[in-house]
Amino acid sequence: MRVELERGVWRPMTQADLAAVASVANKVHISYPEDDAVQAERLALYPEGCAVLEHEGAVSGYAITHPWRCAEPPALNVMLGTLPERPTTYYIHDFAVLPETRGSGAGSAFANAVIAHARSRALPNVSLVAVNKSIPFWSRFGFEVVSEPSLHARLLTYDADARYMVRRF
Ligand SMILES: CC(C)(COP(=O)(O)OP(=O)(O)OC[C@H]1O[C@@H](n2cnc3c(N)ncnc32)[C@H](O)[C@@H]1OP(=O)(O)O)[C@@H](O)C(=O)NCCC(=O)NCCS
Repeated sequence: MRVELERGVWRPMTQADLAAVASVANKVHISYPEDDAVQAERLALYPEGCAVLEHEGAVSGYAITHPWRCAEPPALNVMLGTLPERPTTYYIHDFAVLPETRGSGAGSAFANAVIAHARSRALPNVSLVAVNKSIPFWSRFGFEVVSEPSLHARLLTYDADARYMVRRF
């Protein structure tokens, strides 16, 4: 996915970006650490769903998304192995922009691109685990919290405030 912005661009992530991605992750997701191998595997499995936010040669954000099974969000810091043959959701695994770059519309532009990508794949919805008090941000794009007892254990691998959200088409 590629999204041109007034300042910078969301461009496809490559293996060469993984060190910069880890650096952003270590600053943004202090409470939700994942091994570098987790990001590398997602990129290998579904490169078209992975992007970095770049401005003047510096990476200040990244996104990792892929087709998946609805109502089965992966626990934090797990490898997937393979992607499902018949996906039932488009899943936003990780989405982070450095604090100093936030508020410029970059996150919203990419969220819209992800939703358009999911539609183009004819998937029935987009889903994610909302953390960091990001529920209001996702609600702007039509995501709604889904509370199901079967999700509790996976959500707790993030924290007690994590919520599963789905944006249906
Ligand atoms: C969520 C995130 C990627 C948005 O990136 P961004 O480039 O700042 O997004 P935009 O500039 O398009 O939109 C920012 C708007 O969303 C709001 N917003 C962003 N994150 C928010 C949050 N965690 N809680 C509440 N509102 C939030 C901002 O207040 C801002 O509102 P405004 O347009 O009225 O000023 C970024 O805030 C981030 O990296 N947050 C930390 C990591 C995170 O929570 N990721 C999502 C986990 S599911």
